[in-house]
Amino acid sequence: MAPTRALLRSARPLLSSPASPVHHHQLLHDFLAPALFSSSSRRSLSSTPPPSQATPATTNNAQSHSRDGGAQQKPKKLKPLTPEQQSFLSSALRVNQAGELAATLIYTGQTPPLISRHPHLRPLMEHMYDQEASHLKTFNTLLAKHRVRPTALYPLWSVMASGLGWGTAIMGREAAMACTEAVETEIGDHYNSQIRTLLSMVTEWEEQGYDVGDEFRELIGTLRRIRDEELEHLDHAVQHDSKKAEPHWLLTGVIRAGCRGAIWVSERV
Ligand SMILES: [Fe+2]
Ligand SMILES: [Fe+2]
Repeated sequence: MAPTRALLRSARPLLSSPASPVHHHQLLHDFLAPALFSSSSRRSLSSTPPPSQATPATTNNAQSHSRDGGAQQKPKKLKPLTPEQQSFLSSALRVNQAGELAATLIYTGQTPPLISRHPHLRPLMEHMYDQEASHLKTFNTLLAKHRVRPTALYPLWSVMASGLGWGTAIMGREAAMACTEAVETEIGDHYNSQIRTLLSMVTEWEEQGYDVGDEFRELIGTLRRIRDEELEHLDHAVQHDSKKAEPHWLLTGVIRAGCRGAIWVSERV
């Protein structure tokens, strides 16, 4: 289907990243701290070395330059990410992008068999596809911005997601909806867990008197919005009889286990 091809095409430059393998590890190692905090830290660096050379002092948020020479307000600093936090964030963006690609392909695979037998489902399928395509675009942008490599198993997930979408739609409307129910349940949990981790980072920084930074807050807001849309898809699936799929427990159990496995692998590979 054309939109999917376009998405894959747009994702391809990420797959065949021009960065040489030699530099790859290095890029992964330090991508997030300067990038996530760029907008505020760069404000403070107008006459200082580039962000990649940042020392703790240069990560200060110089928004708080004294106003008229005498601000009493304490300057708030941005705390650089620890290697563990950088690694968490790069894994999170990578797995989210893989999941959203899979979601677009599941709906792309489901739509033709489904709407040929149930034309009234076309608007719903288009609506869900459009939201998934927008999620994928969001993570494509974030991966490129923070120079995170996509999962190495991108092609495998693509084939499996398309097969899952098409296969469940062939089984019938209820099975297709059970697939959506299973996938969106896992994805909703997955986003919730990421949001919890990011919020605990925010709490820690705030307790230590650091600024959180607009970009980090924006990321949390984006994840919350996407999580809500995934849960909306879950509701649509249940409203359209996902629970009537036969055998529901087996279908959703297998698909949910598959999602968890794919998430686990994509976070690492
Ligand atoms: Fe999505
Ligand atoms: Fe979704």
